[in-house]
Amino acid sequence: MDELLEFAIDLAREAGARLRKGYGGSGRQQVDYKGWRNLVTQHDLEVERRVVERISSSYPDHSILAEEGGGHEGSAGLRWVIDPLDGTTNYVHRHPMYCVSICLEDDAGPLLGVVYAPHLDELFSARRGQGALFNLERPVRVSEEADLSKALLATGFAYRQGEQVNTNLENWSRLSLVSRGLRRCGAAALDLAYVADGRYDAFWELYLSRWDISAGGLLVQEAGGTVTDGHGGGNWLEGTSILASNSLLHNKIMEHLTVE
Ligand code: IPD
Ligand code: CA
Ligand code: CA
Repeated sequence: MDELLEFAIDLAREAGARLRKGYGGSGRQQVDYKGWRNLVTQHDLEVERRVVERISSSYPDHSILAEEGGGHEGSAGLRWVIDPLDGTTNYVHRHPMYCVSICLEDDAGPLLGVVYAPHLDELFSARRGQGALFNLERPVRVSEEADLSKALLATGFAYRQGEQVNTNLENWSRLSLVSRGLRRCGAAALDLAYVADGRYDAFWELYLSRWDISAGGLLVQEAGGTVTDGHGGGNWLEGTSILASNSLLHNKIMEHLTVE
């Protein structure tokens, strides 16, 4: 395995172990608010600090974009995109669907990505052009479902209420009537990993940030899926909308989506 991917996996495992240790420890009260329902805990901050510290000392010329603001600009043309804790609301409420998401990007986009869910001990990793793996053991492949009525879909709802033009509720209603079911599990990076692994047939969401989707999007692509913005274009990393699917259902789902 290449050195950078090995490093990213090691970062994710260490971050995951720290999150696992803090889980349930500080209770619901120990949160700060970035918005009225956009939570941050000491664990988000501590894990990010540690990840940024390790990247900075091993690769001082790489840039870092990290959700809680710990990043900096480097000169190498490579950038780490970090969500130290995706699913903070779950974490605070002792719901085990949370993960750490780490991506390394170059000028062409995501180069390698790791999503690790410590509670489930599920590690998804991918390198551009080389496929994706589950727990470094078996290849990860999207599902082969082509019938929307048999598809399990996932989505999420942005926390930034007030700023958002589209609540996603109409998309939810429309797709709930034509699919086998919808899930809103609360960690976008893990939702994408589950599409890559064929557990979900597709995922869409509006107003996500790059750290939510960069690693997960690469996982889906490397598992044979398709990732676009909600109009079918290539701007999914910019965050206004993303649709990730097993490819076969992409257009059928897009017909039911209204995005900005
Ligand atoms: C959130 C989760 C959630 C999604 C939100 C994200 P956070 O990330 O991925 O599933 O619906 O839009 O902000 O805040 O827990 O890192
Ligand atoms: Ca996130
Ligand atoms: Ca986060």
